[in-house]
Amino acid sequence: MSDAAKLLLDGKEAGFGVRHGTIGPDVVDIASLYKDTGVFTYDPGFTSTAACESKITFIDGDEGVLLHRGYPIEQLADKGDFLEVCYLLLYGELPTQQEREDFIYRVTRHTMVHEQMTKFFTGFRRDAHPMAVMVGSVGALSAFYHDSTDITDPHQRMVASIRMVAKIPTLAAMAYKYHIGQPFVYPRNDLSYAENFLHMCFAVPCEPYKINPVLAKAMDRIFILHADHEQNASTSTVRLAGSSGANPFACIAAGVACLWGPAHGGANEAALNMLSEIGSKDRIPEFIARAKDKNDPFRLMGFGHRVYKNYDPRAKIMQQTCHEVLDELGLKDDPLLEVAMELEHIALHDEYFIEKKLYPNVDFYSGITLKALGFPTTMFTVLFALARTVGWIAQWKEMIEDPQQRIGRPRQLYTGATRRDYVGVDQRS
Ligand code: SDX
Repeated sequence: MSDAAKLLLDGKEAGFGVRHGTIGPDVVDIASLYKDTGVFTYDPGFTSTAACESKITFIDGDEGVLLHRGYPIEQLADKGDFLEVCYLLLYGELPTQQEREDFIYRVTRHTMVHEQMTKFFTGFRRDAHPMAVMVGSVGALSAFYHDSTDITDPHQRMVASIRMVAKIPTLAAMAYKYHIGQPFVYPRNDLSYAENFLHMCFAVPCEPYKINPVLAKAMDRIFILHADHEQNASTSTVRLAGSSGANPFACIAAGVACLWGPAHGGANEAALNMLSEIGSKDRIPEFIARAKDKNDPFRLMGFGHRVYKNYDPRAKIMQQTCHEVLDELGLKDDPLLEVAMELEHIALHDEYFIEKKLYPNVDFYSGITLKALGFPTTMFTVLFALARTVGWIAQWKEMIEDPQQRIGRPRQLYTGATRRDYVGVDQRS
């Protein structure tokens, strides 16, 4: 690493090394900046800050590229399945046939949760938002699995990872069933990951539930599209929580909490609510005008992205999946889809959105698809959290295994009061 970057500050010069990745932007290593110059960098939204080194996911926002361990998302979504992507994210390579079968066997046999977890759910109001239930129940897993929380033990780190991937669909389905007042449905070992999730959500004790293979394939692909996405807000939250050595289940619960925000994973629920509020194509100009109005906090939900300044590659696949599901269910004239497609067309030709490089993101079409699959909007972000859990746990594991790893502790630009002495209440005006 050469001293290829120099900073001239108050007449003094400081040099910093530049590190090169395999692809993507170089980084200036400023770890010694404060020691050398007495100043901090300032980047509150982390728009120009690499917080870690990673080998898991690469995104190129200008080119609309998303690679998982080097494999394009388009190929993984077309040719792979979700558990294979989970293996890839966790182990770094696509599994051989034997590795695949072994991984599926291990995940399948960790899908049940401790029976006492059912008691945990009964503490929530039935109308509690399922994401509130997920934050609580995922965190509660740390109370049950002390045997896989020695994060210094590589075997236990993998056991905790497998447990997280295996149990998150069960918890998500339990959150849904509790929300609608139906009995919990236990996981079944004879079903695939996506089939099992649909069965746990939509089966009832009164009659057999028939899996629709087209819908199961669409569910599996939706999980693939949401599996991991570099250092997004919730993944960074998991990494920061994990940097203190916290229990991995508690770290994932922190990720669930962060994902809930409408600027992040909550956008799929917000996007569908927005499409419903727009209601018809003739009201689109009114909402486009609001999105452009600086004095109106309204934003087009499902549009824009911190990194993608081109089309989100996941959004294209999501749109195709949306059409497949609606066609299979005979809903291709869904008015929400018509509004969404017209809104996308208008926005993509509007100077404001072109100039600000605002394109549909993964959340724009997912809501229509999930609604067609039978989920209420309150479950949309739960499904995002279900899929993203493998990305969070893979990134957590990579952080723990990084020899450079230390507790994350950002500094600040202080603009508050300077030192002053205490004044007794009788002397305050
Ligand atoms: C996800 O990071 C990830 O990888 C996230 C994610 C993942 O897989 O983990 O991809 C998942 O979170 C996707 C994003 C879902 N969020 C939404 O769809 C909510 C709507 N989008 C915005 O809130 C916004 O675009 C963000 C939060 C996604 C990105 O925000 P940035 O990068 O901080 O951009 P910004 O807010 O600075 O916006 C830049 C400009 C602003 O205008 P100016 O102040 O420059 O005049 O674009 C405008 C914004 O007002 N703008 C929008 C807009 N998004 C940005 N204007 C109208 N509608 C929008 N949606």
